[in-house]
Amino acid sequence: MSVDVTLHGVAKSFGSLPVVQPIDLDVAPGTFVSLVGPSGCGKSTLLRLVAGLEQVSAGTVTIGGASPAELRAHKRLAVVPQQPGLLPWRTVAENARLLLEVNRRHSPTRHPDPAELLDEVGLTEFLDAYPHELSGGMRQRVALVRGFSLGAPLVLMDEPFAALDEITRAEMRELLARMLDRHPATVLFVTHSMAEAAYLSDRVLVMSPRPTAVVADVAIGFPRPRRDALEDTPEFAAVCAELRHHLHGAMR
Ligand SMILES: Nc1ncnc2c1ncn2[C@@H]1O[C@H](COP(=O)(O)OP(=O)(O)OP(=O)(O)O)[C@@H](O)[C@H]1O
Ligand SMILES: [Mg+2]
Repeated sequence: MSVDVTLHGVAKSFGSLPVVQPIDLDVAPGTFVSLVGPSGCGKSTLLRLVAGLEQVSAGTVTIGGASPAELRAHKRLAVVPQQPGLLPWRTVAENARLLLEVNRRHSPTRHPDPAELLDEVGLTEFLDAYPHELSGGMRQRVALVRGFSLGAPLVLMDEPFAALDEITRAEMRELLARMLDRHPATVLFVTHSMAEAAYLSDRVLVMSPRPTAVVADVAIGFPRPRRDALEDTPEFAAVCAELRHHLHGAMR
């Protein structure tokens, strides 16, 4: 289940500080879109505008024909932050069920079973463990499970793997790709890693410095499912080089 996302002239200023220039964007249902751009350019702000966590200064965001506020009200939008934000007094299983419990009144009748999701990310042995007993990668896997637990058709991820080491990051990338095979969603994904963006995405939007605009919209056509070996191909290196080239061009 996934939805389309449309931005029409979406702009944002904080007081006199312009952060997002008017942006037009059409994202087809089920597309994985990455945002890459210099630090402080406005990527998180743009994600928060789509999430309805910030109000637009101009323009409209439409998600499957509804506003972000409507989507949020119906719990059809999930946000996976950079820090897993698990509740320390709840076990892995209890943290994974958190959103379903908090939103019981709004919970969709069809949603993935949290226990199955935890199994998919290899945490079955740790259902009764507490967050302090987990590694950083394991905590982020629980956060991933929580993000998918509502079966939301739109998942917004803001550098979810940034705090992890390179090896764990590559594992998380695989887990996310497999998770999306089983539980399709439209994804907006912020990252500073060109390789992560190229590996996961159907489209990569390269953003300019603040006030940010989309300077390049690069389609990534590698067939799916993608495998680790993809990273060792010259085609993959060429895509990463193209993304870096756009990024450097935007920063001049
Ligand atoms: N609530 C806010 N009030 C005022 N200014 C804000 C607010 N949120 C963000 N900003 C400003 O907007 C600009 C963009 O911030 P944002 O967090 O969107 O950048 P980013 O691209 O996500 O950066 P990074 O890659 O470092 O995470 C910054 O100059 C920041 O100071
Ligand atoms: Mg950010």
